Amino acid sequence: MKNIPLPPCNHQPKKYTGPGATEVLALRKQFMNPAIFLYYKNPIMLVEGSMQYVWDETSKRYLDALGGIVTVSVGHCHPYVVAAANQQNELLQHSTTIYLQPNVALYAEKLASKMPGDLKVCYFVNSGSEANDLALLMARTYTQNYDVIALRNAYHGGNASGMGVTAHSNWKYNVPHSFGVHHALAPYPYRGTFGYDDADAGKKYADDVKQLIDYATPGKVAAFIAESIQGVGGFVEFPQGYLKQTYEYIRAAGGVCIADEVQTGFGRTGTHFWGFETQGVIPDIVTMAKGIGNGCPLGAVVTTPKIAQSLTGKVHFNTFGGNPVVSAIGKAVLEVIEKENLQANSLKLGNSLLAGLNRLKEKHKIIGDVRGRGLMLGIEMVKDRLTKAPATTECAQVVENAKDLGLLLGKGGLWGQTIRFAPPMCITQADADFTLAVLDEAIGAL
Ligand SMILES: Cc1ncc(COP(=O)(O)O)c(C=O)c1O
Repeated sequence: MKNIPLPPCNHQPKKYTGPGATEVLALRKQFMNPAIFLYYKNPIMLVEGSMQYVWDETSKRYLDALGGIVTVSVGHCHPYVVAAANQQNELLQHSTTIYLQPNVALYAEKLASKMPGDLKVCYFVNSGSEANDLALLMARTYTQNYDVIALRNAYHGGNASGMGVTAHSNWKYNVPHSFGVHHALAPYPYRGTFGYDDADAGKKYADDVKQLIDYATPGKVAAFIAESIQGVGGFVEFPQGYLKQTYEYIRAAGGVCIADEVQTGFGRTGTHFWGFETQGVIPDIVTMAKGIGNGCPLGAVVTTPKIAQSLTGKVHFNTFGGNPVVSAIGKAVLEVIEKENLQANSLKLGNSLLAGLNRLKEKHKIIGDVRGRGLMLGIEMVKDRLTKAPATTECAQVVENAKDLGLLLGKGGLWGQTIRFAPPMCITQADADFTLAVLDEAIGAL
């Protein structure tokens, strides 16, 4: 493969003096969870980051086009976010909700200001799984119904309730789970029953939700939960009209609508601040994590005052939720998104990349589908455009080749057949051009 120069960068990484990658790999194998996986044949170890770039222990630089799995939203170690964290770290690191704390209250006010409609009450947790668990509890308590409709090809977390609403066999252990959960057809225009050429696809997929309500539940449901664009599933964007029609069916059956914005929120889609807005709906409960904290453990659930009331019959408590340090970070992240117009940057560079990826699709037959919005772009690889047989091995090889050329990409989809591009939202046109040149080379080298 021919070398493609990374765009220039002023940051000088410090000399790394810690344990080497081989030693760290051995420690990980001996002392850590054996069910986690590594991406590359020769795993890389990251020791420093600055904005859209990361460095390994040998000071090799990479463009981080996955952002720690769609988590580093405004840039690695963004100076404004680091300053906010440092300032609070020196004052008070933990207090808990039994005392008043200014940061969490100011942050809740700021986060609520970004929400449409009556979504004004914030709960803070530590992760996306916890956020979805709480959202499901809220929905069931509020509606007094139990059944939940989720989507196939969804990922909502690795705890018991997250796994229950997730619908990818890779993430589901063989234990009793998903009681009361029904998985509707994934509104997946490239691979699903109703394709891009079907103008009524949104309504037709929504009708499957209605059928589940009628056939698989008591006719009453607690909730519908969906990612606004499926993330782990390979950045699958739903046909227009899908959420609008589905929300109508769910509300008519007494349920509430939960939008999982763990990957799609905070301006990443470019056109909108929240993914659900791309479908013209307002959910009843919104869950957030990942990009909300730019890499710090922060999650949130935002709902209406009426729904929040339903949890007041008991104490709902979370030790670290809204911790003073993470609240300072969360607020700083929102301020950076505003000050640096990162949503507009996502839109501009996302459009430029999408056009470039479509050109690559014309050149490389292995690309079956290019999709997404803003800086959330998927490239689905197939062995054959007619059969759409997933090109799993080839996709892994492209990701490997790209890494050798200095670009870190993600994989998604049930078979690991979709390349995921979701960098920090601070990338530049030069990074976008580099990405396209590397992808062209990495696919060409197959
Ligand atoms: C859409 C979505 N929801 C929820 C989760 C779970 O988040 P966490 O890993 O922080 O528990 C994830 C994680 O990848 C996700 O992508």
